Amino acid sequence: MKSRVLISQKIFDEVVAMVKQHFEVDWNQSETPLSPSVLIQRLRDKMGAIILLTDRIDEEVLSKCSELKIVSNVAVGYNNIDVEACTRRGVMVTNTPGVLDDTTADLTWALLLATARRIVESDQYLRSSQWKGWGLMQFLGYDVHHKVIGICGLGRIGQRVARRAKGFEMQILYTDVIRAAPSLEEELGALFVDKKTLLSQSDFITLHVPLMPETTHYISTADFALMKPSAILINASRGPVVDEKALVQALKEGRIAGAGLDVYEKEPEVEPGLLEMKNVVLTPHIASASHESRLKMAIMAAENLVAGLMGKLPPNLVNEEVFELSET
Ligand code: DGY
Repeated sequence: MKSRVLISQKIFDEVVAMVKQHFEVDWNQSETPLSPSVLIQRLRDKMGAIILLTDRIDEEVLSKCSELKIVSNVAVGYNNIDVEACTRRGVMVTNTPGVLDDTTADLTWALLLATARRIVESDQYLRSSQWKGWGLMQFLGYDVHHKVIGICGLGRIGQRVARRAKGFEMQILYTDVIRAAPSLEEELGALFVDKKTLLSQSDFITLHVPLMPETTHYISTADFALMKPSAILINASRGPVVDEKALVQALKEGRIAGAGLDVYEKEPEVEPGLLEMKNVVLTPHIASASHESRLKMAIMAAENLVAGLMGKLPPNLVNEEVFELSET
């Protein structure tokens, strides 16, 4: 008999077909996440699940879904899953690293350029028929080329952002918990500095850290105080990395010049102050949303699920100790 699995939300048909070759699939074809109680109800008799980052897998879900062996997240970040609780209960957790790095770096750059060069604001101006002709002083933004970019977190995505910055002939600063290898620093032309130096010297500050207790409100009031008044903050990592209320205050007081955001503290809510600001560019968590990357992510999640339930090591297992224990 085939094992039963849940696919919690709408994903690509071809990926569902892939999973159906191995398992009996219960698929929620809607783009709306299942409520916590319905998620539990549908997950109760399943051995595995492909879930999205809007599905929460916590202690309560796990305690009621004791058949569960693997949770396969279609995202690189997995802050929607209580990994510790999964590990305690012997549930494997997998994610989709790598395939979205360039796509996320592209979007980071789209936000950076759009904010610096006032793309959204000027597009809206033109569309609303306010443009009456060219003017020397219209829509003055900030140059990007030859400026200083500060990358917080030089992981896979941060590195891709740095590669693009080289093309703009920027000075590249970075900070991280662990310093990169000298060969990587040299290749990227990136200088390791402490967070304070990065914040005070950068024209563009871009965040690429995972969400953890240590990175919650990584950027808050005291950090904005260090930034240049012309600085632009970009966040395509996780919303809670930035204290949104402190950001609104910093923008209102002119402590910084603008922000480009793809992620928010309480998605899908956005701090109301941000919605009113013209120097802020907002996208709805679309950093990895290219046809190519999202398909690759979904395929990867399916492969992780299949491997895990077939007794093989899932290629992107987050809590390896679960597999090691099941082997002994
Ligand atoms: C991720 O993968 O963590 C992104 O936030 C969604 O693609």
